Amino acid sequence: MNIENIRAQRTANPIHFFASIGSTMTEAAKLAETGAPHGAVVLADEQTAGIGRLGRTWLSPPGTGIYCSVLLRLKLAPASAPIASLLVGLAAADAIQKTTNLLCDLRWPNDVLIGERKVAGILTQLVNDCVIAGIGINVNQLSFPPDLRTPATSLRMESNGREQAREPLVIQLLESVETFCEKLWSEGAKEILRAFSAASSYARHRRVIVEESGERGTTSGLDDNGFLLIRFENGQTQRLATGGVRPVP
Ligand code: BTN
Repeated sequence: MNIENIRAQRTANPIHFFASIGSTMTEAAKLAETGAPHGAVVLADEQTAGIGRLGRTWLSPPGTGIYCSVLLRLKLAPASAPIASLLVGLAAADAIQKTTNLLCDLRWPNDVLIGERKVAGILTQLVNDCVIAGIGINVNQLSFPPDLRTPATSLRMESNGREQAREPLVIQLLESVETFCEKLWSEGAKEILRAFSAASSYARHRRVIVEESGERGTTSGLDDNGFLLIRFENGQTQRLATGGVRPVP
């Protein structure tokens, strides 16, 4: 990866690059604690202990994917923390679509899918009022272990095996993250909710299984803080604050 090229194009993002690191999240948390600015980035070519959501691991082989954590000082009320996750998912999908022309779907809170397969995952953590947005994009993988919870894909697998350049995608990703942050600041959380609902086939009228409980229900939009609403057959509605959903097979 040509880091100098990325730095030259994204002067608004101080970039801390590592050829190999345990997890970019750990390094980004240290930066947040020492007062690093909004937009600071930890980017790695390989992670040896990549962290996924809900205690899972994130496979991060060298030279293959994008593994980065971006510090976001969004000034969001704690109750609206999910908005940050939705915002970063929107940015990742936007960057993939702009650089590859592949159409992405979003599954609450922030899985980026191509069809039913996951191409990117996002993990957000809060450190001292600073959101650390960890973004992993599968770029040039040619296969994945068969036993993954959600079937995975890569941009290369979705492009007839053609190798994909990572630099333009990193540059666009950082630009898209900034664009959606500015949207949040200028138009408010409602606009992020609107954009997410428009981009996600999971936001409404989708039969899903709630990961945590195994219950089946139908999605019925997002509330004002970005929580997913699920209606069950008994007429009750649940506000999903953590975890996730998967499609009813
Ligand atoms: C998920 O489970 O879907 C979230 C995956 C998040 C992976 C990214 S890769 C960059 C950053 N560093 C990590 O250790 N995890 C996140």
